[in-house]
Amino acid sequence: MATERTALFMFFGGTGDLAYRKLYPSLFNLYRKGNLRSHFAVIGTSRQTLDDEKFRAAIKKSLADSGERADSKEASDFISHFYYQAHDVTDTAHYSVLKELADKLDKKYKLQGNRIFYLSMAPQFFGTIAQDLRSQGLMSDNKDAFNRLVIEKPFGRDFDSAKQLNDALSKSFDEEQIFRIDHYLGKEMIQNIEALRFGNTLVESLWNNRYIDNIQVTLSEKLGVEERASYYDNSGALRDMVQNHIMQIVSLLAMEQPVAFTDTDIRAEKVKALRSLRVYNVADAATNFVRGQYGSINDQADYRHEDNVPHDSTTETFVAGKLLFDNYRWSGTPFYIRTGKMLADKFTRVDVVFKKPLVDIFAFPQAPNAPLAANVLTIFVEPHAGFSLQLNAKTNDATFQTEPIKLDYLVDAEKSKETPEPYERLLHDVMKGDGTNFSSWPEVSYAWKFVDQIRRVWDLQEPQFPNYTPHSMGPAAAEELIQRDHRQWVYRLNN
Ligand code: BG6
Repeated sequence: MATERTALFMFFGGTGDLAYRKLYPSLFNLYRKGNLRSHFAVIGTSRQTLDDEKFRAAIKKSLADSGERADSKEASDFISHFYYQAHDVTDTAHYSVLKELADKLDKKYKLQGNRIFYLSMAPQFFGTIAQDLRSQGLMSDNKDAFNRLVIEKPFGRDFDSAKQLNDALSKSFDEEQIFRIDHYLGKEMIQNIEALRFGNTLVESLWNNRYIDNIQVTLSEKLGVEERASYYDNSGALRDMVQNHIMQIVSLLAMEQPVAFTDTDIRAEKVKALRSLRVYNVADAATNFVRGQYGSINDQADYRHEDNVPHDSTTETFVAGKLLFDNYRWSGTPFYIRTGKMLADKFTRVDVVFKKPLVDIFAFPQAPNAPLAANVLTIFVEPHAGFSLQLNAKTNDATFQTEPIKLDYLVDAEKSKETPEPYERLLHDVMKGDGTNFSSWPEVSYAWKFVDQIRRVWDLQEPQFPNYTPHSMGPAAAEELIQRDHRQWVYRLNN
């Protein structure tokens, strides 16, 4: 039986795309499962002039668009908990109207003062909102109640701006009240990394530089920038994907075993891992990171001719890099990462490449066998969830040849349908007050310090863009990056 949670949700940016596409349908799922029942209310705010009725109609549409039966009694009961308040976040006076509504709903639904403030809007307003929430009395002062602040990305655009933002938030909220969203941490198979590592002696005892040759993390996207160019062109792949999602995945792969499976212990280990990530000097940053921007093919315009992109844009739509940890576990075992838009396919995977046996006794001089393949453990994150372990086995015949075979575990389609969406899990975690799958400030700051150094070096030099063909796996330089180390990407086109 699901535990009912009690809270008032206040969504800033409550009429935005993310709210309609992800947040409200996720809340509905939590309602259907019984994590929300009668003691909750939702206030949507934005600058738009709407009334409750129109807002509820929009919620109904958002449920219908996400494939729900929006005309059911269950849906209309759920929607009846939604309220709308037009709000200018920069006008302090507006907060008192919001407070009045919040207090009224608190009484009506017996919310015990529990409040969740969700900021899903332009980041330059995050600091002001947090400050006014406190100064205008929107944060509950009931000592048994919670006040939680949920922040969407981007969390700054470099270390300095992120620190400024964090300092502003910290004036009103303590670190354990701040939930910085990284939706990759809500994905099933990203959460499974910990189970795979710390639930299996077989895996964890080999999880180090003695047995692992290299680890590859690929976040590949098939689409271009679509209609987000005005945001993306100011950001680029390094800030959009590497600083957050990739650094989070890498820290889960690299960390030591936490003392216990709690948010405090897990975060402590992730921070330790990130602290031992080598921050490159200028020469190493230039050698160990490559960037790309997509060109054109057939009807596909190049990045510089996408809507709202300046024709001379030097924004990267692709990044590949080599990360090195200076610690006992990983010294000498590189982590290669890559991500980009307009690549061959949409998928996320982690390939863990093990070292080959030191001696290949099957390489008989008289009957030459193909050299042994490396063992590879692949974690398929999306679109399919599962693992695959490549081993060497004897071919099924009278000779003694070896060949790579695969042990596969794929979550079946029926089960995948039941997998909660990342936002559903993350909202549930916020309701429970579990910060495990959110980025803590020290993690964010170490990730920025690493990424800033790459950015600094790139900003010194005009890139030669465009440099990769749409539907490929990025520029030739991404191949050279890994080939230089006598290795190759496990996932390549046509393999
Ligand atoms: C977002 C980025 O954080 O993640 C987008 O801003 C990107 O540019 C998206 O497309 C990818 O997420 P997913 O879950 O579709 O892999």
